[in-house]
Amino acid sequence: MQQFHHLVPALAVRGRVAMTREELVAWGEALGRAARPPLIITLAGDLGAGKTTLAQAICAGYGVTEPVTSPTFALVHRYDAPRSPVYHLDLYRIQRPSELVNIGWDEISTSHALVIVEWPERAGDLIPAGHVPIDLEHAQVDPDRRVLLAG
Ligand SMILES: Nc1ncnc2c1ncn2[C@@H]1O[C@H](COP(=O)(O)OP(=O)(O)O)[C@@H](O)[C@H]1O
Ligand SMILES: [Mg+2]
Repeated sequence: MQQFHHLVPALAVRGRVAMTREELVAWGEALGRAARPPLIITLAGDLGAGKTTLAQAICAGYGVTEPVTSPTFALVHRYDAPRSPVYHLDLYRIQRPSELVNIGWDEISTSHALVIVEWPERAGDLIPAGHVPIDLEHAQVDPDRRVLLAG
């Protein structure tokens, strides 16, 4: 996380920051521009918390030009980008971490790529140390804001 410290919004460094969709997208694009492979970013949070929205912003900043859609059913989507491939995973539908073998997790997680994982808790301890963990939560006071916790 250290190399991204300058990207964490000022309030998030000490605690939490509630962002509008536009703010979250701008933050994600900046993270994507700064990202260098190999890098694994995990996006935790409930349904509708904004994980896919943030993943799309990170991909845009990283230089993915194709439309980025939710990999809910395919489990993993792969995109090309100037610096490396991007793998975007949504593990919501897996029942146990061992199912990751079927989608090639061993190769994906060790490849020279940007890897973005929604529902990382489904992977148990199969997420390597050194990833960038991001949590998103619905803001209590405002339905149009999401609380971001990075690092
Ligand atoms: N501040 C916000 N940040 C992110 N998404 C927001 C925000 N406010 C409203 N939304 C809406 O919430 C939904 C989030 O959906 P999505 O990104 O698919 O969530 P997830 O992948 O976590 O299930 C989108 O429809 C988005 O437009
Ligand atoms: Mg999603």
